[in-house]
Amino acid sequence: MVDSRPDMRFSLLGKVALVTGASRGIGAALADGLASAGAIVVGVARSPEPRQAFAHPVQYLAADVTKDAQGLVDRVKSQFGTIDILINAAGVSVTSDGPDQWQAAFDTTLNLNLRAAYALCLATADLMEAKHVGGSIINVTSINSLVGFPGNPAYVAAKGGLRLLTKALAVDLGPKGIRVNALAPGYIHTDMTAASYADPVRHAQRLNHTCLGRWGEVDDLVGAAIFLASDASRYMTGQDLVIDGGWTAKGLA
Ligand SMILES: NC(=O)c1ccc[n+]([C@@H]2O[C@H](COP(=O)([O-])OP(=O)(O)OC[C@H]3O[C@@H](n4cnc5c(N)ncnc54)[C@H](OP(=O)(O)O)[C@@H]3O)[C@@H](O)[C@H]2O)c1
Repeated sequence: MVDSRPDMRFSLLGKVALVTGASRGIGAALADGLASAGAIVVGVARSPEPRQAFAHPVQYLAADVTKDAQGLVDRVKSQFGTIDILINAAGVSVTSDGPDQWQAAFDTTLNLNLRAAYALCLATADLMEAKHVGGSIINVTSINSLVGFPGNPAYVAAKGGLRLLTKALAVDLGPKGIRVNALAPGYIHTDMTAASYADPVRHAQRLNHTCLGRWGEVDDLVGAAIFLASDASRYMTGQDLVIDGGWTAKGLA
């Protein structure tokens, strides 16, 4: 039975969430945000400890998500019984320096941004199905999943793949009551974008292409993640929720 009081539609009370890439940046903000809405949150990344403080309770686990998705899901299951929400936010952007190095950059990027996300979707969906919890899976894609960008084809390919993987999984998992959506950020100020944020020319290029006239902050994504994780979006699956300050809405910058 869904609690239809407006103030409860966004509540995550009693839900267990697994959030990857939670040591810093977007993943950390989303983990913190789900916890603020009442979820029991397990945040995962490779760093032995989170690189920033959380304002709300987040249980932090150090793990490399490219290594053993099933083992990670089993660890969360043994401690919390199930997983109701998965956010795949761990990601990397690596460019290759020359024609000889493209394979390594391509493999690293696809391995984390697409393959590891898929493995976690599968392991989590099995648990969601076994526990009959329904469930919400959120894959953090990018505006790079929608349009081409210069200089980093592996990243664009991985995010484009993750976008359509999200739709394919929505088809397969919908009958089991599991929703799968993509959260597609524009340019957000984090470690990943620190170089372009600090460069005056690239900073202005990115800012000027938005409608809102500013870069995004990690907190700009939290409301959308709570929406996708909660019953407020209970009839939404296989979709992109683009949070980009109007970047992809704008033609001539
Ligand atoms: N920033 C943007 O403008 C932007 C825009 C669109 C989409 N995104 C996407 O949003 C997500 C988060 O990006 P961000 O900007 O927050 O990046 P970030 O600041 O570089 O953080 C990346 C996170 O992923 C974790 N991570 C990396 N490799 C991992 C692995 N093998 N196993 C587990 N965790 C791993 C990192 O932690 P450890 O180093 O501790 O492992 C860190 O917590 C990514 O998927 C990115 O592609 C970012």
